[in-house]
Amino acid sequence: MPTLPDRAWAQLTRARVELDDLTVCLCASVDRDRPALNYDQCFVRDFAVCAPAFLLRGEADVVERFLETVVRLQMREHAVEAFRPRRGLMPASFRPVEQEGEKVLRGDYGEESIARVTPVDSVLWWLITLRAYTQSTGDTGLADRDDFQTAIHLILELTLEGSFELFPTLLVPDGSFMIDRRLGVYGHPLEVQSLFFAALRSALDFLGDDDEWREAVERRLRNLAFHVGRYYWLDRSSIHALRTNALDQYGEEVTNVFNLFPESIPDWIDNWIPDDGSGYFAGNVGPGRIDFRFFTQGNMLACSTGLATPEQRSGLMSLVEARWDDLAGDAPLRIVYPALEGEEWRVVTGADRKNEPWRYHNAGWWPCLLWSFTNAALVSGRDDLLARAVESIEARIEGDRWPEYYDGRSDPAPGERARRWQSWSMGAYLYARACLEDPSAIGLYCWMDRIDEISPEAAAPPEDPASARGP
Ligand code: GLC
Repeated sequence: MPTLPDRAWAQLTRARVELDDLTVCLCASVDRDRPALNYDQCFVRDFAVCAPAFLLRGEADVVERFLETVVRLQMREHAVEAFRPRRGLMPASFRPVEQEGEKVLRGDYGEESIARVTPVDSVLWWLITLRAYTQSTGDTGLADRDDFQTAIHLILELTLEGSFELFPTLLVPDGSFMIDRRLGVYGHPLEVQSLFFAALRSALDFLGDDDEWREAVERRLRNLAFHVGRYYWLDRSSIHALRTNALDQYGEEVTNVFNLFPESIPDWIDNWIPDDGSGYFAGNVGPGRIDFRFFTQGNMLACSTGLATPEQRSGLMSLVEARWDDLAGDAPLRIVYPALEGEEWRVVTGADRKNEPWRYHNAGWWPCLLWSFTNAALVSGRDDLLARAVESIEARIEGDRWPEYYDGRSDPAPGERARRWQSWSMGAYLYARACLEDPSAIGLYCWMDRIDEISPEAAAPPEDPASARGP
């Protein structure tokens, strides 16, 4: 009798998308009972989560072809026009189409997507996957190739240059990543900042010592770690400080840098964070604004990439343990907590019916998040939490036909509009299962050292982010 991982693998490989008889990617889902929309396409972020399943099974050639394919789809022209994707951008998704009798790949850079959202995260996932491929195979030749070096440098240009901002965080529009519908995740969402951090750390592996970008990348990493560590971290004492801060301060020496008003702190938070050093990174920080929602992917990535300090890492894992029913429950893991409800839901989501409270992106449960949870739990020595999450998933997911997500406040049920046989639900499970058996596998996606340990001049963070000139 094949095991559950064997059966998941067999299902996953049904999603292969081929070009010239070779697999180049997986489509998002093979559910034929629902309208395909774009679920029959290869999503860069979805495949990135499935890639380790191939790497750990010795099918690195599939990952290599995926990486090459996305390089070919990266925008190369310098577009100064609106309605044209910027140079360096990689598509959210792509699919084979017939063109003059030939099968070619066509990317979607946001111009066809629902609500025309921009895929900021594709370039970041691509770099993270390239590092995992290189770590797994030891093949450094791929990243050294001219076309790959050009791709890497175009990503650095796109993400490190050309912003109005002083802050090291990336300023992005709503819905520009995994949460690709309006959900108040514009500005400086943690999910993007953590991915950006992981991507820049990955890029360092591919830049020679004399590369002109090396210093800029290291500086940006240090500034990001400083900025997110200082302004996003929430625990009982930082919340107390927010409540007692002075307001409307002007000048260089201020305590309330973002001019946050205590009335904006939600009531639920005090009882939710235990008073034992537990804490987490806020969902978003900007002028006059902290988004107090807990976003799982960004927090988990902060643990596994060295963005969080060891104390923050253990504080985060204690919070997950203390709030297990809210964040992991029976269908690990919840994408964000809590849901936007009532008038807030109407205003912030634009009354989006797919994102009603406790559904889909608005606090639904996403099995694909097991990928980032695996990294975070194992890097923090919380194998017990990972085992618990995997056990919950194993108890139901195959019977539910590998749904894309679950809905529900406390009792998750397969999402009302969820696709079944969703690739990244299977890919994430396979990765989690493999890492439970061999925890060293997380080396593909984790960094044990902090960023300030990798380069000595980073030891002292800038006193104020504004004093950190340059990228
Ligand atoms: C939905 C999700 C997105 C995912 C896509 C394909 O649009 O919000 O994150 O990449 O489906 O699975």
